[in-house]
Amino acid sequence: MVLELFALLWRMSNYFAVCARGVEPVLEHELRSLGISQTKSLFSGVAFEGEIDDLYRTNMALRTATRVLKPVAEFIARDFDALYRGVRKIDMYELFRVDQTFRVDVNLVQSTMTHSQFAAQKIKDAIVDQFRQRSDGKLRPSVDLKNPQIVFNVFVSGPHVTFALDASGESLHRRHYREGAGEAPMKEALAAAIVLLSDWDRESPVYDPMCGSGTLLIEAMMIAQNIAPNLNRTFSFQNWREYDADRFNAIREELRGKQLMPKLRGFGMEVSPRVATTARKNIAAAGLDKFIEIKTGDFRRVRHTQDSGLVIVNPPYGERMDEVENLKHLYRELGDHIKQDCQGCTASIFTGNLELRKFVGLRTKERILLYNGAIEGRLLKYNLY
Ligand SMILES: C[S@@+](CC[C@H](N)C(=O)[O-])C[C@H]1O[C@@H](n2cnc3c(N)ncnc32)[C@H](O)[C@@H]1O
Repeated sequence: MVLELFALLWRMSNYFAVCARGVEPVLEHELRSLGISQTKSLFSGVAFEGEIDDLYRTNMALRTATRVLKPVAEFIARDFDALYRGVRKIDMYELFRVDQTFRVDVNLVQSTMTHSQFAAQKIKDAIVDQFRQRSDGKLRPSVDLKNPQIVFNVFVSGPHVTFALDASGESLHRRHYREGAGEAPMKEALAAAIVLLSDWDRESPVYDPMCGSGTLLIEAMMIAQNIAPNLNRTFSFQNWREYDADRFNAIREELRGKQLMPKLRGFGMEVSPRVATTARKNIAAAGLDKFIEIKTGDFRRVRHTQDSGLVIVNPPYGERMDEVENLKHLYRELGDHIKQDCQGCTASIFTGNLELRKFVGLRTKERILLYNGAIEGRLLKYNLY
């Protein structure tokens, strides 16, 4: 029943933006802010109605989505042969040319088909066979798993198959400012969701006492300056038949024109000199080095005080037992530091260790469930006044 409803809602919309679990309300809010009023939040994404301009705008401007899909066909398949037959019926000539490379991504949820690789193989065969048949066996498109021009996304939910074009291609979380990753870097889309869920006026300073490769600070600064995160990359939809380069360039210029003058500064602390160097490089690659300063040091020793704005941090989680013991002290000292030195601020702490969160020792205003990949985490929000 739930799956049928899901399939129905998905069918009603012409696009679907994918996000991490827990982020759906933030993504829906982002879509509304881009002027898209027909939205429906679903599991790991938001379905929406939009024009071609909205497709271009969402790909360049959404911060919390990982990709935007355009469903093109739906059918029922309970086994691999039915899957093959369903794909054979879709007119591939409408979607791409034989000289273009492609890839098939498959997601199986509660399906009687359990091998996604085998499902992808069947779908690939159905696509290739259609081109071969129409050209008397002379022509066939090639698969490219790394850099395909066309990406198909096939979502199988129970017996319902949704065959979609992936408009983004490379995941939208890769903003290309991250040259090197620090220790346990956080995906840019999750960092953006954490900032957007924080209570912050976007005008007062932002501080990360354990900033790693700087992702939270960079995403916060891009939000404050209204910089669309994916203005300088290519997308899979640029290889589609319907792609309109003039419209795409016009939307890109429109988004560039919305950038705001910087009003605030960001400040980060990182104990590892190597990781602090990475953070500085990433900040420079994002063009934000005039606005964000990184100090190498331990927040417990280098004293930073701040009386307004946002403290935002993603402390280490620890995996081994002895690490977790040490981290209890670190979390306690983090709580003490923000209580003593950041009076007047709001704070957001994201942790993937539910046991450690108790050691912060501050009264939580709100707890939000978010996933960092497969890790179940919590965003903890505090008022320090
Ligand atoms: C989970 S990572 C943060 C990841 C970051 N959000 C990012 O996207 O790259 C935690 C970071 O805290 C740093 N760290 C640990 N203890 C610290 C301390 N006492 N003072 C400052 N930084 C610390 C670690 O070196 C690590 O880079």
